[in-house]
Amino acid sequence: MSRSITKAVIPVAGLGTRVLPASKAIPKEMMTVVDKPVIQHVIEEAVAAGITEIVLVTRSGKASIEDHFDCHYELEAELERKGKTTILDSVRNIIPDNVSITTVRQHRALGLGHAVLCASPVIGDEDFAVLLPDMLINSHGLETADLTAMASAYEQTGIGQIMVEPVPMEHVERYGVVDCSGVELSGGDTADIIRMVEKPPMNEAPSNLTINGRYILPSRIMELLKNTKPGAGGEIQLTDAMADFLKEGTLQAFHMQGKTYDCGNKAGYLQANVIYGLQNPETSASLKTFIQTLDL
Ligand code: G1P
Repeated sequence: MSRSITKAVIPVAGLGTRVLPASKAIPKEMMTVVDKPVIQHVIEEAVAAGITEIVLVTRSGKASIEDHFDCHYELEAELERKGKTTILDSVRNIIPDNVSITTVRQHRALGLGHAVLCASPVIGDEDFAVLLPDMLINSHGLETADLTAMASAYEQTGIGQIMVEPVPMEHVERYGVVDCSGVELSGGDTADIIRMVEKPPMNEAPSNLTINGRYILPSRIMELLKNTKPGAGGEIQLTDAMADFLKEGTLQAFHMQGKTYDCGNKAGYLQANVIYGLQNPETSASLKTFIQTLDL
């Protein structure tokens, strides 16, 4: 079976409570990592993996996200007049011409599963990707970026792929956790998932392999989400719809090779800025020198 994934849902309606007060008047997705908002890093990752239709699930107060990917005529005209072509290029060509961004609204904060379901009129009956914008997946130095490798695994098998990574056992209760019957996975490997559970207590977790916010899902998930009841935290959970899918089909865990930075919390956000700053040709040398001068 051969097919490719072209549509992605990115839920951006969250309140950003873990990064307050920074996210009081700006969406947390617009906080910058080095020189771009977090959401731009995530959309670039999606585009690099072959996505051409992005559906942002948004809410009131988040319009600056849409503005960021829109044309800014005045700014562009001014930069053009001044001959600042490099900067002009960076604001004009944020996404390639063949990529579209659509927005749908999530009127009530009923959970991640509900947010994904809000995108169903745009997704239709196609298989689709989901990218959680809090999580930056850094594939620097890898031959193939993790999401791109996941998309290829899906293309070859037609089976939905869920990106996972091991975390210390005491952290599993923050995440969706998968059970791959104890199969030992290393970077780039996939294995069938037999069970998954959202935010289990440590002593009930089937493994330490956690879902880190990248999914390629069968269209059937949208149908299942319509009947998914509130689960962990009283929210409609995407993990519960995927667990229902396992009763009728197969999903695979894809063990990432790169590194995850959770920009939805302050420490993860700072770490992302350091790492992305060290990887950015414009900032790496001076940041490295600065870090070396620190008396830690
Ligand atoms: C969501 C998912 C969870 C996943 C996590 C990754 O949880 O429900 O399965 O492990 O994202 O960040 P949230 O962080 O929205 O509570």
